[in-house]
Amino acid sequence: MKAIVTGVAGTILLAGALFVGAVISDNILGDAKGEMQETAVQTQTPANTATQTLAYAPPSIEEVPDGPMKESILYGYELVNNTHVAADEYVGNQLSCTSCHAGAGYDEQASSLVGVMANYPQYIGRSGGVVTIEERINGCMVRSMNGKKFEMNSDELEAMVAYFAYISEGVPIGAKREWAGTSNMENVPVPDVANGQELYGQSCIACHGADGSGTGANTGPALWGENSFNDGAGMIRMSKMAGYIQNNMPIGAGGTLTDQDASDLAAYILSQDRPEWANHDKDWPKGGRPNDVMDKEKREQVKNGTIDWEQVLSTN
Ligand code: HEC
Ligand code: HEC
Repeated sequence: MKAIVTGVAGTILLAGALFVGAVISDNILGDAKGEMQETAVQTQTPANTATQTLAYAPPSIEEVPDGPMKESILYGYELVNNTHVAADEYVGNQLSCTSCHAGAGYDEQASSLVGVMANYPQYIGRSGGVVTIEERINGCMVRSMNGKKFEMNSDELEAMVAYFAYISEGVPIGAKREWAGTSNMENVPVPDVANGQELYGQSCIACHGADGSGTGANTGPALWGENSFNDGAGMIRMSKMAGYIQNNMPIGAGGTLTDQDASDLAAYILSQDRPEWANHDKDWPKGGRPNDVMDKEKREQVKNGTIDWEQVLSTN
């Protein structure tokens, strides 16, 4: 008798559960259908394209949520913002990542790193292969920072990746980051180095020094000499240096220089001595090496007046 009662109660409960289940699944299905319809409408209406543009809305470094990731994210921020101090043994110059990726990568204009995790791994012609975010960071360590690579499982590398993941929140994998790669000049005018020198004296020495050695990684980084990037760095290309200057310098007045002035300044800066990269011959192993890499040979050509700028600028 007892067994029968339990059986009946069980059946009632089961029926109840089935009923509730049916209501829930109906709601889910209903919502999903609604969503699908919305998506369909969006893709069909060109007027909606603007609303699909990815917003530039990285979460603030002041508001990293408490939890097991917080320490690593904040350490990563410190490493990116104050690299030559926080990672002293690894950095071979007086720069920080912030020296080029302004605001530790937060600045939308200056080679922003917001959302960068969404675009890696990525094929990079200079490496001739697929590059992970860790390898990309280490690429900047040995070139832009003229230093050493972090070990793969080091706290430093993990912290930088944790920080980049944090400032990439909400950017879907594979998304086109409209703000990335904007400090790049496509058609660089043939430069006048003497004019570049003059402009440099007028508008740049206050922060970067007359001898290019700078006033500090985050106040006016070294633009040439032993404390600057080596000639394997991205900035060694006329297209990137002129683009960066035009877009961002002098600080607070980005976009005011003409392309011609920015090219003159870039040529003046890149014709000065700096550390040499030992592995030029291994870059672009599958071809496609651009001509605007201002290596030692080209610096010599500027000095002795034999440089063929048309040829240098022909592949941008
Ligand atoms: C001397 C300037 C300079 C310094 C210093 C520098 N970088 Fe870069 N970095 C660049 C340039 C130029 C690029 C290429 C950006 C472009 O083409 O728009 C780049 C690209 C990158 C990318 C890929 C960005 C993307 O959108 O695909 C990452 C990641 C990166 N840097 C990380 C770092 C880190 C981490 C540091 C410090 C350890 C650092 N960089 C220091 C100049 C610099
Ligand atoms: C008021 C100070 C100030 C002035 C003036 C200034 N800069 Fe900068 N510059 C900076 C700071 C600070 C950075 C680091 C990035 C940032 O915070 O935007 C920087 C970064 C750079 C970089 C990238 C870092 C590197 O090592 O290559 C270049 C190139 C550069 N400046 C060139 C120039 C040129 C050319 C001028 C003159 C037209 C100029 N700057 C004027 C402060 C200044």
